[in-house]
Parts: sequence; structure tokens; C-alpha cells
Amino acid sequence: MYRHVKNLQFESKPQKPDAVLAMKMQELVAGQFGEMTVMMQYLFQGWNCRIPGKYKDMILDIGTEEIGHVEMLSTMIARLLEGAPNETTEKAAAANPVLGAVLGGMNPQHAIVSGGGALPFNSQGVPWNTGYIVASGNLLTDFRSNVHAEAQSRLQTSRIYNMTDDPGVRDMLKFNLARDTFHQQQWLLGIEQLQEDGLADLIEDSNFENEDKIQDHTYWVFDETSAGPEGRWARGMTLVDEQEILVQNPPVPSEDTALLPPPDPKLYATYDGSQGRGKPGTATGATAQGIANVVKKVTGTD
Ligand SMILES: [Fe+2]
Repeated sequence: MYRHVKNLQFESKPQKPDAVLAMKMQELVAGQFGEMTVMMQYLFQGWNCRIPGKYKDMILDIGTEEIGHVEMLSTMIARLLEGAPNETTEKAAAANPVLGAVLGGMNPQHAIVSGGGALPFNSQGVPWNTGYIVASGNLLTDFRSNVHAEAQSRLQTSRIYNMTDDPGVRDMLKFNLARDTFHQQQWLLGIEQLQEDGLADLIEDSNFENEDKIQDHTYWVFDETSAGPEGRWARGMTLVDEQEILVQNPPVPSEDTALLPPPDPKLYATYDGSQGRGKPGTATGATAQGIANVVKKVTGTD
């Protein structure tokens, strides 16, 4: 259950309207790394969390906090749009350069679609989409995504801070910057806590025992003049499993030349017949070929 308190987490009061800034601030609401993304990301991670107690509660604490950040920014945008022109003529714009600048820079959807309110779109008018979020059920990989989201979000907030000298907008952004500073650390400490509690390693290494035991500590060089091998990533010990990092220079490819079987004639793929006639991909065709034959074809042992 969610309850609502009318008061904002921090006041959202611009000193004066600024329709152009309102459009820029849409990025912080609904851009890839805006507040809607972290809100949805943390809420789904929290709802899907299988551990009752501190992890689930922490994730839902921050998810709920982010709902309030969307609210603060939406309020700010609506106040910045106060008095923004919703109709004019070319003549009026020409006579008043300030009006012309506002009309030229403002998002017309702020007048046409939302009637002077915030939109769930980024600064370019692209709708927010759920493809921005990550909620895998694996807390280590999710917490790493969360550090990343907070870092990008803070960086963009910081850039917008420099685009305005409105003290009211800056005051609110100071609060948001500080929350993103703490939130980055909250997720980093969350990763430490997972390790302390024996729930995760330093990296995602599920199925570790089954992976290729040479490739899991080898740096590949793809350019003979590469300075890459000078870095720490190509020298010393791995972070997990304490193995000496190997350097493969040049990389040695496999025998597989990636040649595909002849295409199904009904798919009309461009083909020169060099590998014989392709077999139809119908259910009858598949049965006629037999499972063993299909397997032979894809493994190249035909
Ligand atoms: Fe936030």
C-alpha cells in the first residue's frame, strides 16, 4: 500500500518562469536516467526481492523516495511554465525578442498536450520507456546498475544546474545532487553488505565452475599497436579466484568460419547454390530431414 503526503520532500519553487528550462528539465523527469527510471527500477527490484528484511525494505525505501523526486520535478516544471505563451502571432514574436526566444525554445507540447504541466517525455519529447530499467532478481547485478543510474542521473542534474542561475531551481537541484551522491554510496555499500552476508561475490560469477578456465583470466589484444596491455587489467592477479592475468596477443581464432547451411528456398535469401540445395523449413521438411540431420547441419559435421 502506498500513502501520499501533500508536502514535497524539498520545496520546488523557481524564482521566475522559464519555459525553455522547463523543457530541459524534462530530461531529469523522463530521460533514460531521469527520476522515472530510478523510481520504476527500484520499485520493481523491491517488489521482486525474495529476501524479507533489510534488503527489500531498503530497496523500497529508495523506490518510494524516487516517486517523490518525480513529484518535485513535475511541480517545478509546471511552475516554470507559469505564464508561458500558448498563442501568438509571428508579428508579436518579431516585436518582442524575449517572447520569440521563449516560443522558439519551449516545447510546444507543454502548451498543447499537458496544458502547462510536466510530461513523461525527455527533453527531446521522446516518451519514457520501460526498456530503460533493470530488475533481474539478482541483487548484485541490480545494485551495480543502480550505482550506474545514480551516477548518470547526478551528472545530468549537475549539467542542468549550470544551465540556470535561478536560485529556487538551484536550491532544489542542490538537494537532488546530494541525494544522488548518497544514493551512489547506498548502492555501493549495498554491494559490500551482500558480500559481507555471503550473498554475492565481487562480480557476477554464477556457474563459475563451468566456465572456460583459461578465458576467465585472459586479456585479448586486437591491435598490434595497442597500449591496452599496459593497464592493470592485463597485469597482476584477477580480482576473484587469484589467478595471474594472461595476455593473448594476437588473438587466436577458432576453426569455425561461420559458414551457414544452404537457405530454405522459400525464404528467398540471396544464394549461389555453392552448398547444394536448401531444404524447406516446413514442419514436413523438418520431419523429413530428421533431428540428427538438422543437428549435423548446424554443427558442420554433415
Ligand atoms: Fe532521485
